[in-house]
Amino acid sequence: MIDETANANLKSAPGVTRLKLTGFRNYAALDLTLDPRPVALFGSNGAGKTNLVEAVSFLGPGRGVRAAGADAVRRRTAEGHDPIWAVYAEAMTVEGPVSLATGSDPAEPSRRKTRLDGAATTQTALARLFPMLWLTPREDRLWAGPRSDRMRFFDRLVLAGAPDHGSEASGYEKAQRERQRLLDKQYEGARVDPDWLNALEAEMAARGVALAAARVDALARLQSEIDARPDTAFPKADLELEGLLEARLAAGEAAGVVEDDFILTLQDARRRDGAAGRSLTGPHRTELSARHREKDQLAADCSTGEQKALVLGLALAQASAIARVRGAAPVLILDEACAHLDVARREGLAQGLLDLGAQAWLTGVEAGLFEAFGEGVQRVRVEDGVATRLDDQG
Ligand SMILES: Nc1ncnc2c1ncn2[C@@H]1O[C@H](COP(=O)(O)OP(=O)(O)O)[C@@H](O)[C@H]1O
Ligand SMILES: [Mg+2]
Repeated sequence: MIDETANANLKSAPGVTRLKLTGFRNYAALDLTLDPRPVALFGSNGAGKTNLVEAVSFLGPGRGVRAAGADAVRRRTAEGHDPIWAVYAEAMTVEGPVSLATGSDPAEPSRRKTRLDGAATTQTALARLFPMLWLTPREDRLWAGPRSDRMRFFDRLVLAGAPDHGSEASGYEKAQRERQRLLDKQYEGARVDPDWLNALEAEMAARGVALAAARVDALARLQSEIDARPDTAFPKADLELEGLLEARLAAGEAAGVVEDDFILTLQDARRRDGAAGRSLTGPHRTELSARHREKDQLAADCSTGEQKALVLGLALAQASAIARVRGAAPVLILDEACAHLDVARREGLAQGLLDLGAQAWLTGVEAGLFEAFGEGVQRVRVEDGVATRLDDQG
């Protein structure tokens, strides 16, 4: 008998098959043909490795690994700026091959315009077709750094498995900003339309509960993925979300009840939020904490190396949780991930990525860092804004 579930799971993981850059950061022009394997970029500091993975990150939802604006990536030379920039890719997705293009909008150079198969697209469509997870050296300080960075990281993990998460989050933020604008006016003595305020709070509650529910769901899947994994080279984390809505949803309360209560909470908080100039309750204030299971200590108290290993372990576990649910692993960008790993961990990372079948983009200063991948990676040398594939296409 044919195993239908096994067949349904046989999807090709998303990945770039051709990447073209024009006037992007230190690349005047680039045209790389790739296969589905992970890509290892190596070259000296300042060669353009992060610039290249940033271009790849522009193909997914969001603002990319550096959260840069459209103007910042336009190529600067001694003569000035190149007039336009563009990233073009042919890519495999879970729904088949597509072309993705993003670049400066001639009408408005500070804006970035993205097209999918030649037509305007949405962040949700990109998240569905080209889910992506990334880790950069910035995430090394994730556990000890500010709460907002940690939640941004976690929300990206959620988004890679739940493509609507981004639009729920931006819908929530938009309603929240507008409500705050009204409360600020009211605090200064102006009259505001109570119906408008009620409508905004209802919107915040609906979006906020959807947002929190997606987080709770993703966390549960991620935690069970971590628990079920055999001992890998990466330490296991015990995760916890601390948030007004998340706590109640995780305890199994009905979403409708939590939503109605949140509306009342927001109504009660109007005066206080107006005085404070910001909204003091809601899923934008949620905190994520992690414990290093084996050491039984908070991630924030672990050594730098342990903290880094915890984050990598989380990203790998989330990638396989997503592969389980959606049938294919997301694209992974791991900028400088190998730099401070010992040999055993580099081998563990290579094995983990090869098992996932994900197209991972790895960077490092020398090719030797990727030895553990054997023939499992395609190697690209990066030198002063020029990237060259070493091997012939496999
Ligand atoms: N808009 C730009 N135009 C031209 N060069 C840029 C631009 N932005 C960054 N660079 C240059 O790119 C280089 C850094 O590339 P990067 O990809 O971060 O290096 P690495 O290989 O170390 O990751 C720097 O020399 C920087 O000056
Ligand atoms: Mg770099």
